[in-house]
Order: sequence, then structure tokens, then C-alpha cells
Amino acid sequence: MQPLSRRDLLEKLGYTLGALSFPVSSWATNELGEKLILPNRHRQNRIKKQITAITLGAGNRGNVYGDYATAYPDQIKIVGVAEPIEIRRKRYSEKHNIQSQDQFTTWEHVFEKEKFADAIIITTPDDLHYGPCMAALKQGYDILLEKPISPSEEECRDILELANKNKRIVAVCHVLRYAPYFERLREIMQSGLLGNVVSMQHFEPIQHIHMSHSFVRGNWHNSKETAPIILAKSCHDLDIIKWLIGKNCKKIQAFGKLSWFHEGNAPEGSTKRCTDGCSVESTCPYSALKIYHRDRIWLHHFDLPEDKSKHGEVIMDYLKHSNYGRCVYRMENDQPDHYTSNMLFDDDITVSFNMEAFTDYHGRRTRIMGSMGDIVGDMYSYKWSNFITGESEEWKHESDGHGGGDWNLMSDWIAAVSNQDESLLTSTISDSIESHIMGFAAEKSRLNHTVEDIVL
Ligand SMILES: NC(=O)c1ccc[n+]([C@@H]2O[C@H](COP(=O)([O-])OP(=O)(O)OC[C@H]3O[C@@H](n4cnc5c(N)ncnc54)[C@H](O)[C@@H]3O)[C@@H](O)[C@H]2O)c1
Repeated sequence: MQPLSRRDLLEKLGYTLGALSFPVSSWATNELGEKLILPNRHRQNRIKKQITAITLGAGNRGNVYGDYATAYPDQIKIVGVAEPIEIRRKRYSEKHNIQSQDQFTTWEHVFEKEKFADAIIITTPDDLHYGPCMAALKQGYDILLEKPISPSEEECRDILELANKNKRIVAVCHVLRYAPYFERLREIMQSGLLGNVVSMQHFEPIQHIHMSHSFVRGNWHNSKETAPIILAKSCHDLDIIKWLIGKNCKKIQAFGKLSWFHEGNAPEGSTKRCTDGCSVESTCPYSALKIYHRDRIWLHHFDLPEDKSKHGEVIMDYLKHSNYGRCVYRMENDQPDHYTSNMLFDDDITVSFNMEAFTDYHGRRTRIMGSMGDIVGDMYSYKWSNFITGESEEWKHESDGHGGGDWNLMSDWIAAVSNQDESLLTSTISDSIESHIMGFAAEKSRLNHTVEDIVL
């Protein structure tokens, strides 16, 4: 491939490199408590008419997408909700002014009614994506579907088949594809400025407290009840690797294990719950009392009252009665805390990917090696070196946890539904399914010690 000059590339990309600052929402936050980055004007000016949507699952993600409707009421109105937890359903309904007959306790009830909106937002737990997605497709809704598509390969393929047959728009929430950082890396790679892309290293540092919250104590601690961590956490990574390279993955191999968070490592004096008088609580980095009660972080799966003076008492109740108060060494968790995989793509491009629990930081790191240049990036910045000119350029920007991808995705999905134009999306179901197939194959490899072919 003939590399472009730097000037050609900049003209092509339509921007200059340097420090960029994106405006953020004054109130809406993601699960890390970071303010969400707002989509730029170019993204927002494509709506033919406001769309209506029903949210299934008014938890953390249902609110990230729902808050977009509050910020941009001219683009989307939430007209229905299904949520079994009363306080969540009530708060969501009040926020979006949803009529009482359109508030449901479970997703099945929505489909007992005739279609009453343009689209469905599916933000239920991983094992509750398939049922609502198939029901929504049958009734002719367009869909925003949280990842993973489904924990079962067969179900993923069923959804793809029905979406194609019924010609509905299904956007999978591979939010990284919509992050300006990854969008720019892809443009540089696809432009040819790196020459031939030869190899890539990608790293997902989960951050140790995040690991304990989500994959030891929390919603995704049991791979059989939800999805293996390679899908639950890293289908984003497999997807972004494939999207950046823009070629097919042919083979994958994986290793990984749950090495630390199990009973064999429970310190002497530790108790079933951190609140049971654990004698090592004050020195344990995973103390639930420290994380949730003293530091008041990672609280986005707790339903706290408006009155902040009552938070301490409610949090303590969670610690005494929910998994969030249990010792990290005495859970029924089975998700690996380190996972490494190698991939072979078309044209002999090789990729190594690591997902690690034991870091003090989060934010994906990527190194891309091309015959005429390389890129080193960490989601907040990248440095791209041009071997031909000897010059290098640096780019920096503010970032929320998904680098601005959450609301950019919403903006593109609404435009796609409003215009009935799937091409406004980069993560359609057909584009997204291949990386899921890579994830299923990686897990097979990890468990069976094999190198798996990717069969699409
Ligand atoms: N795209 C991303 O970056 C990203 C990030 C985090 C989570 N996720 C995915 O989003 C989904 C939701 O995760 P979350 O963090 O919001 O979890 P959550 O637990 O906060 O929200 C899920 C909600 O679904 C509700 N629910 C359960 N059963 C239901 C039913 N039968 N009908 C309707 N609602 C039901 C739950 O009560 C809960 O409120 C998961 O699939 C998760 O893997 C994606």
C-alpha cells in the first residue's frame, strides 16, 4: 500500500493534530462516575424526526442511554420502560414522564402490547438479551442492543438471521467504535500512512477494584450465569482490534486463569463478609467497607436515596446483605483475572491481546506497527511516528471511560433509525458478530488448549 504524506492525511481527516478538548455533559455520568463527552455538532444534525424508544432494563446502562434523551429531547423520547426493581422503574418513569400503562415489570410484558414505539433499547443483563431482541425483531422494532449480543454463539447467529430477514436496524453497543480516539486510529491505519500494518499489541487494564466490583462480587462474577469475561469485558477489545485492522481474523489462541480471587488465597482472620469483623480489613485493598462505605466509589449498582445523609446507612445494608459486602476470596466467582490471546489475521498480521485485573489504572493501551510508521496510544492520547519523514505527531483529548463513545453511539443510532439508514452506524449486527465469534473461539481455546480457526 502506498503511504500518504502527512499533509494528505491531515487534509483527508479534516483536522489538525494537537490537544483537543471535547465538551462534556454538565450532569450525566458513566459507570466510572466520569462526565459523558457530548457528540459534536456534525453528529447531531442528521435527524429527520424525533424517534421514540422503550428501555428494557433501567439499570446503569439503561440510564447512560436514557440520559441522552433528557439532554436531547428533540432527538429521542423514551415512551416505555420494563424494569423489575421498583425504585429504578419509578425513577426512570418520572425522569422520562412515561405513562403508567407503559411501565412494565419485565421485558415480556412490553411485547404483549402492539408495537408502540420506533425502537427498543436492550440494557438487560447478558443472559436476557436474546429473548427481548428476538421478540422486538418479530414486532418490527429497530434495536439498540447492549453487548454481548448473547452468551451463546447459536443465539448470536439467530439474532443476525432474523435482523437480516426482517430488515431491522440493530446497533450493538460496541461503544469504542464511536470514540474519537479509535475513529482516528482507524482512519490513519486505513489511509495507508503506516504503510502495511504488520502487527498490533492491545492491552485492557481492568484496574483491580473494577475487577473486584464487576467480575468477583458483581453482576459478571459467574461466567455460566452471564458470559465468559472475554465476551463480558473484552468483546469490546476483540471488536476494536478487528475494526482497526479491517481484515478477517483466521486463528485465535488463548490462555488465562483465575489465579488470585479464590478461597486458597483468603488471608487468615478474614471472614465471609467484610462487615463480620475481618481482622485484615484495614489492610485489604478489596475491603468492601473501604471501597463502598469509606471511599464511596463504585456505587452505580446501588440504589441510593436522594437524601445523601442516608447513604451511609443504605450502603451498610448492601454490604450486610448483597454480594458487594462479601469477601473477594469467598465468592462463587470463576472469571479469569488474567487472559492473554494471540490472533492471526489475513495478510499474516499478528495481534497479541492482554486483559489484566491487577493494575492500578484503566484505559486501553494500543501499539500498532506498520512498515512505514507506528502508533502508541492509551485512549487519552496517541503518538504516531512517520518513518519516511522522521516526524512524529501527538494527539490528546479529554476522555470519559469509553472515550466519548457512549453518546456518539446514541447519536448515530438515533440518526440511523430516524432516517432508516443503517449506513450511519459502524456497529451493525452484521459488523459486530464476527468479533463475538472470535470471543467464543478464544474461550474454546483457553479451556481446551487448542488453536481455533475462526469460522464465520
Ligand atoms: N457497552 C458497554 O460498555 C457496557 C458497559 C457495562 C455494561 N454493559 C452491558 O449492559 C448490560 C446491562 O449492564 P448494567 O451495568 O446496566 O447492569 P444493571 O444491573 O445496572 O442493569 C440491568 C437492569 O436490567 C434489569 N432487569 C433484570 N431482569 C429484567 C427483566 N426481566 N426485564 C427487564 N429488566 C430486567 C435489572 O433489574 C437491572 O436494573 C449488560 O449486558 C452488560 O454486559 C455494557
